[in-house]
Amino acid sequence: MDFFRDKVVLITGAARGIGFATAERLGARGARLVVTDVLEDPLKRAEAALQGQGVQVLAARSDVTDPAQCRQVVAQALERFGGLDVLVNNAGISVVAPLEECLPETARKLVDVNLLGAIYMTLAAMEPLKTSRGHVVFVSSVSGIRAIPSGSLYSCSKAALRSLAESLRLELKPCGVHVGVISPGFTTTDEAKTVLKGDGTLRPIHRPPHDTPEGVARGIAALIEKRERERILTPLGKATALLQRVSPRVLDRVLQGRELKN
Ligand code: NAI
Repeated sequence: MDFFRDKVVLITGAARGIGFATAERLGARGARLVVTDVLEDPLKRAEAALQGQGVQVLAARSDVTDPAQCRQVVAQALERFGGLDVLVNNAGISVVAPLEECLPETARKLVDVNLLGAIYMTLAAMEPLKTSRGHVVFVSSVSGIRAIPSGSLYSCSKAALRSLAESLRLELKPCGVHVGVISPGFTTTDEAKTVLKGDGTLRPIHRPPHDTPEGVARGIAALIEKRERERILTPLGKATALLQRVSPRVLDRVLQGRELKN
């Protein structure tokens, strides 16, 4: 029997991109899904697409920055499916700007979604995951392993997820809960995706991708199934992580002046 058959999987930020690709992949393997997002119409489209693929799915508009909404969506999952086996903390936003151009409000928004959102969801899902001896996945980033210029806010939020996972892994080990971190490299994004500038306004993304959402979804599925600690994606991501371990100063020289442009 497929590992994911009848498993109940909650994925945040699943209306599009990596979250939706993960929903499709795990749904195709027989998982029962709870998909959440703040974007109402794209979430409805994602729900319809998954239902069209024969997947049992509950879609709930839910904001990870609100602890009450996090608790509510977990309650809905338990009511509909009777348990929870996997939480994928995928919802995230990006800020691309040197720190000195960032307003405090922009920093707060980024941390609210990328870090506190994952903490609130994990807290809300803790008891049912302990009952199922399930899995918590954090979607971090290669830039959470090695921060890049103009990515300081984003990178530190993603590094914080890795740190959170380290302690949580030990805290939950006696309960049999697996904690895994996936670190994707630049991935093809939905054309509607935008990033925040330092002043909080939005702009589109035009950067060359090194992976696809489907590729990341494959990685997430393998991370869960093999109960891995961490999976770093893309050859460039793996090389970056290695160089950061061996000689961060060399990496400083490589990255100096290579600000993210978008
Ligand atoms: P995306 O923007 O297409 O998907 C993220 C989803 O999260 C969106 O549907 C958005 O509406 C939702 N979301 C945002 N704020 C939310 C909130 N407060 N509550 C609930 N949902 C919320 O982005 P993508 O590219 O699919 O990224 C998914 C995750 O992967 C993010 O955490 C991102 O940081 C991470 N990642 C992405 C990479 C890339 O190159 N695309 C590289 C490395 C990591």
